[in-house]
Amino acid sequence: MQKVTGDISILAIESSCDETSASICLNGKILSNIIASQKVHEQYGGVVPELASRAHMQNIVPVTDTAIHEAGHRLEEMDAIAFTQSPGLIGSLLVGSQFAKSLALALNKPLIAVHHMQAHVLSNLIDDPKPSFPFLCLTVSGGHTQIVLCKSPLQMEVIGETIDDAAGEAFDKSAKLLGLPYPGGPLIDQYAKKGDSKRFPFPEPQIPGFNFSFSGVKTAILYFLQNAGKSYVFKEIFSSTEAERKSFIDDNLADICASIQARIVSILLNKLKKAAITTGVKNICLAGGVSANSGLRKAFKEMGEKQQWNTFIPAFEYCTDNAAMIAITAYYKYLEKDFSDLSVTANARAEW
Ligand code: KG4
Ligand code: ZN
Repeated sequence: MQKVTGDISILAIESSCDETSASICLNGKILSNIIASQKVHEQYGGVVPELASRAHMQNIVPVTDTAIHEAGHRLEEMDAIAFTQSPGLIGSLLVGSQFAKSLALALNKPLIAVHHMQAHVLSNLIDDPKPSFPFLCLTVSGGHTQIVLCKSPLQMEVIGETIDDAAGEAFDKSAKLLGLPYPGGPLIDQYAKKGDSKRFPFPEPQIPGFNFSFSGVKTAILYFLQNAGKSYVFKEIFSSTEAERKSFIDDNLADICASIQARIVSILLNKLKKAAITTGVKNICLAGGVSANSGLRKAFKEMGEKQQWNTFIPAFEYCTDNAAMIAITAYYKYLEKDFSDLSVTANARAEW
């Protein structure tokens, strides 16, 4: 695509966890979004930080090259270079940040540091129709679960978050208890489609305000499976043999998955509803990898219709970790001239 003077082109890099991604954005429109997922972690049942950093080192140059070519641009045409500064695995973040800083130095262009969680929220501004401000966003990923009140692109406040596990972790840890491979969230979603979600009513925690907790549900599932389904209310572990547990899971997998999914979804949506009623905000968005969950999407839409919300869910490729969301956030930062010094560094856990 031919660039016209006055246009704003941004190259954005995302490398916070186990996805290496690069995106080109022209005047707030995404032209390319290349994502290389790292399969190496599957055999370990979770992301191995050292392997993630090495894979980013291997992927980052070809992924960026592909993103630039797919957008029909040249590197020299970029007006700024953006990257994910925080939060994430420090080794992974360092690869992306050093690469972005080197490019900004070589091209003599501004550098834009982006907060990954802010970018998840703004993934809702990539495609039309976009939410108007203020809006609430429920961000649900493998590492985070937050309700964010967004007053303008760069003015956001976290009004609720998890006090223990993230929603994605709750899915993945439950799946692990069922003997499913990592990441188990999508598999629970798949099995749940054929199951009865009311069969095993796992408890809903009573947490004040807009905060979430998933550790109680996880423990209830653990005991329930250790009892081979004899009880989900007992707080003690009753003995059941490995074979009993396995055959109980095999015989009831769809119902167990549907029941787990329904409880995680109800914990999320009940808090979101409370936040919407309390704030009076009617524009409500989802973001993050767990928003791919079909049960959550359906229940979210249904709640939206009942509550007369305007609901928004980004396209799937913008829900999981991706550089397009970093690019769109960087675009709004560019408009505000919110640039970073070349001495800026990655941070595993920065506040925002
Ligand atoms: O946002 P994301 O791609 O990466 C993080 O920043 O964490 O989210 C990944 C999480 C994983 O926990 C994965 O199991 C979960 O999203 N996930 C799902 C589904 N697709 C992805 N969980 C439930 N149902 C799904 N369909
Ligand atoms: Zn993420």
